[in-house]
Amino acid sequence: MSTRRTFLRLLGGGVVLAAGSAGAFLATRTPAKALAPWDAAGGYEEPRMRALSYAILAPNPHNRQPWEADLREPGKIAIWRDKSRDLPETDPYDRQLTIGMGCFLELLAVAAGETGHAVSFDLFPQGEEGPVAVATFVEGGAGDPLFAHVMDRRSCKEPFEARAVPAEAASALASLAEVIMEAERVAALRKLTWDAWMVEVMTPRTFRESVELMRMGKAEIEANPDGIDLGGPFFESLQLVGMMTREGQMDQTSQEFAIGVDIYREMLAATQAYAVVTTAGNSRADQIAAGRRWLRLNLATTGLGLALHPVSQSLQEFPEMAPHYEAAHALLAKPGETVQMLGRLGYGPETPRTPRWPLETRLRDA
Ligand SMILES: Cc1cc2nc3c(=O)[nH]c(=O)nc-3n(C[C@H](O)[C@H](O)[C@H](O)COP(=O)(O)O)c2cc1C
Repeated sequence: MSTRRTFLRLLGGGVVLAAGSAGAFLATRTPAKALAPWDAAGGYEEPRMRALSYAILAPNPHNRQPWEADLREPGKIAIWRDKSRDLPETDPYDRQLTIGMGCFLELLAVAAGETGHAVSFDLFPQGEEGPVAVATFVEGGAGDPLFAHVMDRRSCKEPFEARAVPAEAASALASLAEVIMEAERVAALRKLTWDAWMVEVMTPRTFRESVELMRMGKAEIEANPDGIDLGGPFFESLQLVGMMTREGQMDQTSQEFAIGVDIYREMLAATQAYAVVTTAGNSRADQIAAGRRWLRLNLATTGLGLALHPVSQSLQEFPEMAPHYEAAHALLAKPGETVQMLGRLGYGPETPRTPRWPLETRLRDA
């Protein structure tokens, strides 16, 4: 039985049910407001707003949603990255945040196809200080078959089934990512992802960055629909019994820290395959291109019934991670290449949607 279920049973059989109407209380804990942007997607007439309403559903590091859109020029969108949402400890060169912006741009283009628009991107037209891209919408775009999977796409942060990924699925994805399924390499990656995760968690300043972004329970998630959302009955139960606090998370000797470590150990081990995106260079344009590929990969895997979960710790560029960064590159890249994304690939459980800020809050000078 999984750690998560063991604890649920433990709590369900004891503390939580003893608290009386806790079960009924837990059933009301869906953060409906934080999930509303998923239902609002597509509900706009103006083609750029319509495409943006899907683009804000893109995967992005720690769900920071750093994107901002300026619609003042007709037919164009200037897309900025809000640097107040940076992750200086775990992403000191903004590489992962830039990949997330690439995911956003690709989803924007895929969605624009639905209204018959093609989108071209002028990347970093004013360098690092200006917008990430200026998107130009023109008539004559075609629908993209991957659009069908936009609403079901997830990053699945759960243990995967022991089933292997079929060879046909791997070849269907080959133009987007390298799929690794050989037992020896998979075993090496299981170890690498676990070792690297432990470095991030045991290094106080990098783990604090995550802990500060944890949204614990419905009220915090609704107030800040971004970051690491710890909602749903499992986490709400832990919160009810005082086992889900920022202080407890930061205390490496606490029981709640140990629970988190157990959940991650079990999840990272339950992996039969990995998907890898590498680039020959590591310019901002390369990072955007990697994000665009990752988004397409995430939609394509969804279409194949496969779950995908980025596991980025070994690719992070802070000093303590350097040995694992090197190991990841030795395992996954040719000399000179950069590994931009590493993800677990397999069969996972159905996963809930994650929170988003409403589109209207992501517009510049509106
Ligand atoms: C560049 C990048 C790196 C990411 N790294 C991780 C990671 O290391 N661990 C993880 O659990 N999720 C990672 N994610 C997934 C995000 O947490 C996820 O996209 C976000 O929470 C929104 O959830 P969703 O993709 O299910 O909509 C990453 C996503 C991107 C784009």
